Amino acid sequence: MNDTLGRPLGSLRLSVTDRCNMRCRYCMPEAEYVWLPRQSILSYEEMARLAGVFATLGVRKVRLTGGEPLLRHDLPVLVRLLRRNPGIEDLALTTNGLLLARNAVALKHAGLDRITISLDTLRPDRLEEFARSSHHGDILAGIEAARAAGFTGTKLNTVVIRGYNDDELENLLDFGRERGLEIRFIEYMDVGGATRWNLEDVVSQAEILQRVESRFGAVRPLPGRGQAPAERFQLPDGTSFGIIASTTQPFCRDCDRSRLTADGTWFLCLYSEAGVDLRGAVRAGASDEDLAQLIGTTWSARNDRGAELRATLPDRHALYQLESLRADPRREMHTRGG
Ligand code: GTP
Ligand code: 5AD
Ligand code: SF4
Repeated sequence: MNDTLGRPLGSLRLSVTDRCNMRCRYCMPEAEYVWLPRQSILSYEEMARLAGVFATLGVRKVRLTGGEPLLRHDLPVLVRLLRRNPGIEDLALTTNGLLLARNAVALKHAGLDRITISLDTLRPDRLEEFARSSHHGDILAGIEAARAAGFTGTKLNTVVIRGYNDDELENLLDFGRERGLEIRFIEYMDVGGATRWNLEDVVSQAEILQRVESRFGAVRPLPGRGQAPAERFQLPDGTSFGIIASTTQPFCRDCDRSRLTADGTWFLCLYSEAGVDLRGAVRAGASDEDLAQLIGTTWSARNDRGAELRATLPDRHALYQLESLRADPRREMHTRGG
């Protein structure tokens, strides 16, 4: 099933909670937030049912996101429900790692395939200042626990921000190489919630490559990107890493992803203003066929290319001001699931 730009519906990002135990400045810089109402949060059964309908329409990859997904109780229960579905071939988790050490084994047993951990800095003092967390050691313990639990293909995501962590690229690459983990540098994006975003703080893919090359020597692009947001590169010693350049080189034409918020609102683009209320349909008694019809018709009409449109703006600022985020918290990246 393809949208108007010929893009298949291939991957679903399932946000299980809008809560987070960090306050990264690029994502949740404010002192207070409006949360999704509790009674609107989908149960695991509702989520698994919806994911099942998506799978009948072609979704093969499901990624659990948040907020911080491990803040939701008994996440392995959801993993187990999703794992039962043979249509879902790849089941992954994106986490900030703080609670991973105590959950890694249970997640593995439940059938999770892969984990991506956010690691923006190797310096505890910076994490404290930048993300208001004094638990840097827990992230490192989480990374180690993922390996010990038997996860392979674990990736580390680093959002690069000028003047914050752009002097750590080399150290992060060393850290990843020593542990066999692929680092992905992510350009700072002007998504909803990034209220302090400005272009000067974005370190572009071109600049990241320049810095890496000045320390490690010429890097070589790796082929076979497919639908993935990251372009991959290799250092002279064989170490590979990725760059997600959604700010300066958007990849909308290959985007096969959509997102479901914890309250069952379905977004066809990271940047879309509004989504489709699937919770309403589920709770009104829609059958699987009704849901498939709604999802299929909506996807067929999809023409979103949010990041590409943002990149054409002559004067680029934060996507939303605070008032409009408060009016609809689903505009927040942390609600939509990064
Ligand atoms: P795999 O390829 O399955 O390993 O995962 P992924 O790279 O799709 O997932 P991950 O959660 O690691 O995504 C990394 C980051 O890329 C996200 O946190 C976003 O910042 C960015 N990203 C992911 N999907 C999109 C997208 O559809 N559009 C844009 N503009 N950015 C995205
Ligand atoms: N720019 C880029 N990535 C972001 N994320 C959240 N906010 C932003 C932003 N403004 C992504 C990061 C983080 C994940 C949870 O969400 O990849 O690791
Ligand atoms: Fe997909 Fe929207 Fe991101 Fe473009 S901006 S890659 S359409 S989610």
